[in-house]
Amino acid sequence: MPQNDNPTLPQKISTPSFAQHVLHWFDDHGRKNLPWQHDINAYRVWVSEIMLQQTQVTTVIPYFETFMANFPDVNALANADIDEVLHLWTGLGYYARARNLYKAAQHVSTSLQGDFPTTVDGLVELPGIGRSTAAAIVSIAFEQPATILDGNVKRVLTRHQCIEGWPGNTQTQNTLWDLAETYTPNNRSRDYTQAMMDLGATLCTRAKPQCTICPVSADCKSYANNCQSDFPNKKPKKAMPKKHVHMLITLNSEGSVYLEQRPDNGIWGGLYSFPECTPASANLNDMLDTAPPVLRQAIHSGPSIQEIEQWSEFKHTFSHYHLMITPVIIRLNHSPLTVSDSDQHTWFNPSAPSKLGLAAPVKKLLSKLT
Ligand code: ADE
Repeated sequence: MPQNDNPTLPQKISTPSFAQHVLHWFDDHGRKNLPWQHDINAYRVWVSEIMLQQTQVTTVIPYFETFMANFPDVNALANADIDEVLHLWTGLGYYARARNLYKAAQHVSTSLQGDFPTTVDGLVELPGIGRSTAAAIVSIAFEQPATILDGNVKRVLTRHQCIEGWPGNTQTQNTLWDLAETYTPNNRSRDYTQAMMDLGATLCTRAKPQCTICPVSADCKSYANNCQSDFPNKKPKKAMPKKHVHMLITLNSEGSVYLEQRPDNGIWGGLYSFPECTPASANLNDMLDTAPPVLRQAIHSGPSIQEIEQWSEFKHTFSHYHLMITPVIIRLNHSPLTVSDSDQHTWFNPSAPSKLGLAAPVKKLLSKLT
């Protein structure tokens, strides 16, 4: 809209931008006393950002201080022994971060004469530094405008604009980068980066966003529609295939159940489980014909079967499929002698259990039996 040039008319006052609201909030409520916010330089900011990937601020603080006391600059880190570095990382987890830090320090120290690249493009060339971490270093250490997009910022932005799609999806990610860049101001770069991280970590939290005191709630679309918990959208679940099995739970007259040891490879490798079959007919007696020979022999070694009953199907989920299990309970009125304990099969007494590795649904079914 053209500006109003007439000095006698009131001038249009432009509304504060997203960044202005965030920065104003940061001035009053942002975190300003973290150890890496003192004596700021690229090395300290870099180490802190790497430690803060996947790790909480409170956990990082003592590690950062000890690390800096031992390796005060990039040359000290580059000249250290990797074992010393890993030792000081012990407990922080994700050790690839420490190895990459060390590799990058050696590169900066020897090939770049100790000077860190000052641009996002330069920094992402170093091991372990992605686009958002590079932008955090550029903005915090060099006070240059650069856009971050870490998990916290993704949560703030997807909620603010109701951005659909799982943020791990490339298209959603591109939309988020564009939006994050649009909001990034040209000044106060360090404070803006820190403010966005703090906003996500302290107010726009995953489970309990504090929208009533949020500096950008006035135009937050998810707040207006009360759908904050829908954002960021979750990773779409893959429709997993279903495999159906019947588990034959054979009880002898003493109440022991027949278990087989599974092969070492495949699901429940080496654990004990019930024999399985995939019946062609719904007739329970026909089903017994498909039982493993040792069990069949055991079943038919006595006078008769006392009872066969089928329980309702239940689901056991593996990472890549659902196993739909139908338990079939076969109560014998004898205790077969033909089957002796061996490495592969055993009669297991649930009331005086021996120490066997049991598959998870087997434990569940045994507790239901007793
Ligand atoms: N997480 C990642 N970077 C951070 C920073 N600079 N301050 C607080 N939390 C962070």
